[in-house]
Amino acid sequence: MKNIVIAIDGYSSCGKSTTAKAVAAELGYAYIDTGAMYRGVTLYLLEHGIGFEDLARVEEALHQMQISFKRNRRTGRNELCLDGTIREDEIRQMRISNAVSEVSGIVAVRHAMVRQQQRMARKRGVVMDGRDIGTTVFPDAEVKIFMTADVHTRAMRRQVELADKGEQVPLDDIVQNLQKRDYLDSTRTESPLRRAPDAVLLDTSHITLDEQVDFVLERVSSVLVDG
Ligand code: DC
Repeated sequence: MKNIVIAIDGYSSCGKSTTAKAVAAELGYAYIDTGAMYRGVTLYLLEHGIGFEDLARVEEALHQMQISFKRNRRTGRNELCLDGTIREDEIRQMRISNAVSEVSGIVAVRHAMVRQQQRMARKRGVVMDGRDIGTTVFPDAEVKIFMTADVHTRAMRRQVELADKGEQVPLDDIVQNLQKRDYLDSTRTESPLRRAPDAVLLDTSHITLDEQVDFVLERVSSVLVDG
């Protein structure tokens, strides 16, 4: 089977990573969660006391930190590592969610992450999710999906995810965080969140995970048949 790039972009918490993971498993492709990489950079800067506006120190930190993924044999998931240590739980905390849009707006951070993402996908078929995959990282991706969903539906899903990890967060705080991130992600100057002209829209407000996965797999089949 031909190996292709499947780019899944869209708003925060509308099911991109769950869908992308399931599609990757179905096709035997690699899955890369690019949001986790920006979260990893944010964690590093916070832990090293580096101010986001201190561009010289941010650039130096980008040379020093190692962002990678390691497969967790127990869960079968790819987990984010910072300097070789798995930090998956910490990067999902609200303190990171509240700071990550600012960090991902820094041009040097974006350039470093985009370069690494392009390198990671060189060898095999890949499903990559994020905000700028179909527009900037892989403008020639064979399949491009743009996901969206009603903000309350997204907040409720996110609340359940956080509760599963032991963090109880009021719904209003999550709605505010999502709206703020959507705004910052869509209005930043460097590769803002945009639907690529050739991306297919997938609204997940009223559909199940299985339906989302089937939708993407159907697009993949049609591309593989046509190509
Ligand atoms: O997908 P996520 O919510 O874990 O992403 C965290 C943040 O990272 C999100 O608010 C925007 C940023 N991001 C980005 O700017 N570009 C990407 N390709 C992926 C994420």
